[in-house]
Amino acid sequence: MCGIIGYAGGENSARAVDVVLESLARLEYRGYDSAGIAIVADGEIVQVKKAGKLQGLLDELDKHPLPPTSTAIGHTRWATHGSPTDANAHPHMSFDGRVTVVHNGIVENHGELARGLAERGIQPISETDTEIVAHLLALALADTGDLTEAMRMTVRELEGSFTLVAVAADSPGTVVAARRNAPLVVGLGDGENFVGSDVAAFVSRTQRAIEMGQDEMVTIRPDSVSIQTFDGTPVDRAEFHVDWNVDAAVKGGFDTFMEKEIHDQPSAVRDTLLGRMSPSGSLQLDELRIDESILRRIDKIIVVACGTAAYAGHVAKYAVEHWCRIPVEVELAHEFRYRDPVVSEKTLVVAITQSGETMDTLMAIRHAKDQGAKILAIVNTHGSTIARESDAVLYTHAGPEVAVASTKAFVAQITAAYLLGLYLAQLRGNKYSDEVVTYLDELMKMPDRVAEVIARADEIKALARDMKDVTSVLFLGRHVGYPVALEGALKLKELAYIHAEGFAAGELKHGPIALVEDGQPVFLIVPTPRRPLLHAKVMSNLREVSARGARVLCIAEEGDTAVDEFAHAVFRIPETPTLLHPLVSVVPLQIFALALATEKGLNVDQPRNLAKSVTVE
Ligand code: M6R
Repeated sequence: MCGIIGYAGGENSARAVDVVLESLARLEYRGYDSAGIAIVADGEIVQVKKAGKLQGLLDELDKHPLPPTSTAIGHTRWATHGSPTDANAHPHMSFDGRVTVVHNGIVENHGELARGLAERGIQPISETDTEIVAHLLALALADTGDLTEAMRMTVRELEGSFTLVAVAADSPGTVVAARRNAPLVVGLGDGENFVGSDVAAFVSRTQRAIEMGQDEMVTIRPDSVSIQTFDGTPVDRAEFHVDWNVDAAVKGGFDTFMEKEIHDQPSAVRDTLLGRMSPSGSLQLDELRIDESILRRIDKIIVVACGTAAYAGHVAKYAVEHWCRIPVEVELAHEFRYRDPVVSEKTLVVAITQSGETMDTLMAIRHAKDQGAKILAIVNTHGSTIARESDAVLYTHAGPEVAVASTKAFVAQITAAYLLGLYLAQLRGNKYSDEVVTYLDELMKMPDRVAEVIARADEIKALARDMKDVTSVLFLGRHVGYPVALEGALKLKELAYIHAEGFAAGELKHGPIALVEDGQPVFLIVPTPRRPLLHAKVMSNLREVSARGARVLCIAEEGDTAVDEFAHAVFRIPETPTLLHPLVSVVPLQIFALALATEKGLNVDQPRNLAKSVTVE
């Protein structure tokens, strides 16, 4: 939530405005209800901010261009405190006009701090918690004369979560940032440096980055980066390389990021598999700071995640339990923490997250850690908080996912979770290495199968055109098809704003079948006929809804003619082993949601009310 960029360029660099505006375009996916920029020029701060999409800000800047400068900060907002208005947009300037700040997070004690400021005659002009921080910074700066010191004094007064990035009128070439429970990464340039809420902020300009730890702050200047803790202890941290392809963050000829990211899925699966097998046939994880003897002893796995990532965890449960004979629970991260879960030193908590910043998931792993569990994170974003705070990390190599609706991250998460399952199965002796290799070979065939499904996108788009006026769609699946049904429904809700429900197909007769009436659209994910029992059960479900007048749309394998008699339309997927089915069966559902939203003229990449990275609880 909220995209943040700070830039300190060299004396001769006058391009700060361009750098920040380009970054805001890359960060708009994090929040898009207002945008703003502030610069330091000639001993003054000049800022422009507008409610609405970034384009509104760009139009304003076309009419009233900013002067050339080397120091700037910018922000795209996802509102928490205060509605999306020009006044509530960031940056927020201090009462004396000498400091301005952008913020991601929530300052929980802002009310109390505001009362303290009121006693000194300082009244806010916006409804935000952030403005309070600007005033506190200005007071501290007046005392100390140093922006870094002022930031350190200010953050000590704040409770809650925040990334703050500030500039001061009297400190050209200096940007100071601080973080607690919210994301912040430093980008290392040549004669210029950056801070951003994620690497997308600066990856087009540098692929060298430094992670920021909890309760740390950083001062960037064109030729220096200095990190310290909130209590002033210097921090020396190694840089890392951002291995994202810069071109991955542009639409590449597609109309929307989502469509492009759907097409990225074969490579997301392929790249996540790449380099995982050592020549001796054993699996490699990226960062494993858990002793293998501990992994051999674990007696339970709990997956914590939210939204689409949680559905990837649901899929993985079927494979990991089958391969490793370890019980796997899948828990929504926000429920996990508040229900006193049974966790011990023998529990492995697996956090699945694209952004690596989802606050609910972060809080869940911290809670699990406190109970003695080991944490393994499946993460897409390098340098993210959850990757850093976990005992082991398995990166999905999906590249940057910009569309709010997750697509390629989902298939990459399933792939990575399967790698984890195979690794554990091998380590614990549940599978011989040749068996692992057989599964990996099957996984290696998946990118081509996913590509085959994508190549038939027009069939599903035609279906969507035909269904543009539907008001409710049901999704049914059994076994691994069940989480796929949940994901299909989620995609439709978030993109097309249509009421959609996913059900376990067997649950239907226990209540939801009452919803089925003449013409009710029902998507049915049909398992491979090579699992006859499972297939037969789903066929029964197909007959049940069909008998009640449903308009049934089947996702079924090539050659599965049994469905033809009852289905109104069949979308074919290639023959695939049961456990790998979700990697292909989810794709038509993603395309359907995209196409229906497009038919309805909706903004596919930035659906209403949503943010890509949910960094508040
Ligand atoms: O970044 P994360 O994977 O932790 O995000 C989790 C969910 O917020 C995310 O999957 C969300 O449900 C997507 N909008 C779904 O398309």
